[in-house]
Amino acid sequence: MRVGVLMLAPEERHATGPARPGKGGTEVERGRSIAQQEATTAAISRILAEAGHEVVEIPVNDRFMERLKTAGVDIVFNTYAGAAGRASQFQVCAVMDLMGVRYTGSSAEVHALGLAKHTTKKILRHEGLPTPAFQTFYTPETPLDAMLRFPLIVKPSREGSSVGISEDSVVDDERTLRRVLERTLAVYGGPVLAEEFIEGREFTVGVLGNRPPRALPVVEVNFAAAGRGTQGFYSHELKSQDVIGTECPANVEVSLAEELQRLAVGAFRALECSDCARVDFRVDGEGHPYILELNTLPGMKEGYSDFPKAAAVAGYSYERLVLALLDLAAERHGIAAR
Ligand SMILES: Nc1ncnc2c1ncn2[C@@H]1O[C@H](COP(=O)(O)OP(=O)(O)O)[C@@H](O)[C@H]1O
Ligand SMILES: [Mg+2]
Repeated sequence: MRVGVLMLAPEERHATGPARPGKGGTEVERGRSIAQQEATTAAISRILAEAGHEVVEIPVNDRFMERLKTAGVDIVFNTYAGAAGRASQFQVCAVMDLMGVRYTGSSAEVHALGLAKHTTKKILRHEGLPTPAFQTFYTPETPLDAMLRFPLIVKPSREGSSVGISEDSVVDDERTLRRVLERTLAVYGGPVLAEEFIEGREFTVGVLGNRPPRALPVVEVNFAAAGRGTQGFYSHELKSQDVIGTECPANVEVSLAEELQRLAVGAFRALECSDCARVDFRVDGEGHPYILELNTLPGMKEGYSDFPKAAAVAGYSYERLVLALLDLAAERHGIAAR
């Protein structure tokens, strides 16, 4: 097949200056994200070429549409997460839809839903899937829902990589809540979520496939190993330091692992994801799991990202995973994978 691989454009790679607040976080995060995406697309291009596919690099810039049109690809392998601003994740897919170009992974609509935690949570709730109780704020003055129990965590709805989440995002009283809401809204804009803070362990579960989607082995995010105990959560600072280890398969009872996997597949189906996604969880002290969010475009960096790590535990070499993702998309679109 002739396979397009979406790439960060060189001009984005070399762009300097501070990242826009609310548009992809700090400069450090931006640099890391660029390096990870470049390593990922380089590895994927190599694997596709070695498997006999014709690879066409497609940089995402102001000539993107023209390039898509002239490339004449059968399908695009999409891992594009953008350099500044999460929205580009669904915008590139929307452009491909507009041009009639098929691509791997979830659709533009699904990425747009997944990027908005408040809408994701409404869908999860509607489907009877557990997610922490929450309230959506557009201004810091909105009366507080009397059903919510402190502590609450305040987080922007449309960020990722824990952007906008710091050690003092967890609040114990209404006065502090208002202060943190005001600050978070000022930097990131609305909507901002105030969500019940689930103290306990943290897990993430990859889902691969369509008919049927299957959960990968459970990954535990190991705050205890970083000396954080059960108090730990992923602030932006912690996430960008890259100090928190993960363990896969997680050291949990089979019944909990199976429950997390069942819920991950349920969430994948509820949002109508395709091919792959990763679902983040917290489990409280009594063993009740809660879905925090869905990552509809999970990181795919070999030996680094949670998804390929979990896939490796399930027996997928990185090569096999990449080719499986291509096959899944080709099958979905009714095109032959070879
Ligand atoms: N309700 C919650 N209870 C406990 N910790 C939370 C909660 N919401 C978020 N966190 C912490 O913040 C991190 C980032 O939140 P998440 O909703 O996954 O957003 P993102 O990964 O898109 O930034 C989580 O990995 C977790 O450590
Ligand atoms: Mg997350």
